[in-house]
Amino acid sequence: MFKEMSGEEKYIDEKRQGEVFFKENTELNKITKKVYIESYGCQMNFNDSEIVAAIMRKDGYEATRNIADADLIFVNTCSIRDKAEKTLLKRLTEFQVYKKNNKDIKVGVLGCMAERLKEEFLENKIVDLVVGPDAYRSLPELVEWSKHGNKGINVHLSKEETYDDITPVRLDKNGVSAFISITRGCNNMCTFCVVPYTRGRERSRNAYSIVAEAVDLFSKGYREVTLLGQNVDSYHWENPETGEKVTFSNLLELVAKVNPLLRVRFATSHPKDMVDDVIYTMAKYENICNYIHLPVQSGNSRVLELMNRTYTREWYLDRIKKIYEIIPDIAISSDMIAGFCTETEDEHKDTLSIMRESNYSMSYMFYYSERPRTKAERTLEDDVPLEMKKKRLSEIIRLQNQLSFEHNKKDIGKVFEVLIEGDSKKSKEEFKGRNSQNKVIIFPKREGLGVGDYASVRVYDATSATLKGKLED
Ligand code: SAH
Ligand code: SF4
Ligand code: F3S
Repeated sequence: MFKEMSGEEKYIDEKRQGEVFFKENTELNKITKKVYIESYGCQMNFNDSEIVAAIMRKDGYEATRNIADADLIFVNTCSIRDKAEKTLLKRLTEFQVYKKNNKDIKVGVLGCMAERLKEEFLENKIVDLVVGPDAYRSLPELVEWSKHGNKGINVHLSKEETYDDITPVRLDKNGVSAFISITRGCNNMCTFCVVPYTRGRERSRNAYSIVAEAVDLFSKGYREVTLLGQNVDSYHWENPETGEKVTFSNLLELVAKVNPLLRVRFATSHPKDMVDDVIYTMAKYENICNYIHLPVQSGNSRVLELMNRTYTREWYLDRIKKIYEIIPDIAISSDMIAGFCTETEDEHKDTLSIMRESNYSMSYMFYYSERPRTKAERTLEDDVPLEMKKKRLSEIIRLQNQLSFEHNKKDIGKVFEVLIEGDSKKSKEEFKGRNSQNKVIIFPKREGLGVGDYASVRVYDATSATLKGKLED
């Protein structure tokens, strides 16, 4: 069980935070300009924005939340679905206003769309910089370049870049949970997916730089880290000096040992790499959260093969069985794509049934969006009509809502250790936090408890999205 911090521990923590602030503040002397960063897409993209903020800080730019204050506007973009790109293109036109008011303001497109569309952006009058996910170290130079009326572009994809020496500037304000990227890129080549083209080959970051980042975060008061990668389970790093090999389960163990009060989460796991080792390591350490995001995409083996997911329905269900067997109180979530090329009504029903069998606590659900250059675009016909895709997606969503509600109702009466993240959205009298299973729990505040503390909460009510609870005496 997690114990709450003693008064003394809290004091040391506040002092450390003070020291860090002071250290950072001395650096602030040179900081004269402001960068506004807007992020879209996955958690990795949000973490990349924090890396970008760190790189720009060294160059004298402070991150601002207020776009009107900014000398530089960066948008970190996502290409995963057509809709994501359309939203972004529309958003870009809105930046025109700021440039009209101040000609010196530069706008940069970063991330996956920059990588995918490259030079196409340079024809766009609003855009001054186009920088792909592996080229952020060149940002200061490109910004300088753009100040002289040039367009700055670097979309080089690297086989080595992991930004492992850069301490991200945390842009979210909760100060409790933070992301740590452990791999970049993806080697899987799912036929529907644009990520291998926008993020390049998979590479694993130095294990000790990951542990050092976790230690640093803990000393600054953070109590939860999420290890990030498109496919974290395939993490493998070899120490070039000693030849020591670190697998994902070894890494999980190293991070879990940083401190029992530091929760460890990870995302995303590819089912093909969800080996028993990982599940046993999760079971061994109380502070590795009992939650796995294990995207299935489809419940039908023929469709899974067309998607090149490299597992069958049976194989997936065997993994699910093993996970529940070893960690009975775990919550599992998923991603599903409705209406992939040639999917029949019966095959769609297989997705509904695998959702039931896996008993997902929640899911991210999409209808298939054909992406340029992917194998599906090149070799398969996007032949499920849009209306059909939408109908299937709505069935998937309806079922997941039911499953989530049932899942949450089963928690009524149970007591959970909740890590407090902040005030609930609705009331300053209530805290919002998460249990190990990644479920949000709302409960009334009590004197002496604050953000970053652990609290024992008994659940008394549930909706499909949240649990309501009361503090235990
Ligand atoms: N690496 C992760 C997920 C990356 S993208 C994994 O392998 O699970 C996040 C989710 O977006 C995917 O799981 C998938 O469900 C969805 N997605 C990816 N490409 C898509 C496309 N072309 N159309 C619709 N959904 C897509
Ligand atoms: Fe895309 Fe598949 Fe890689 Fe996930 S594992 S990022 S879905 S190619
Ligand atoms: Fe989007 Fe790129 Fe992430 S395409 S989902 S931002 S890796």
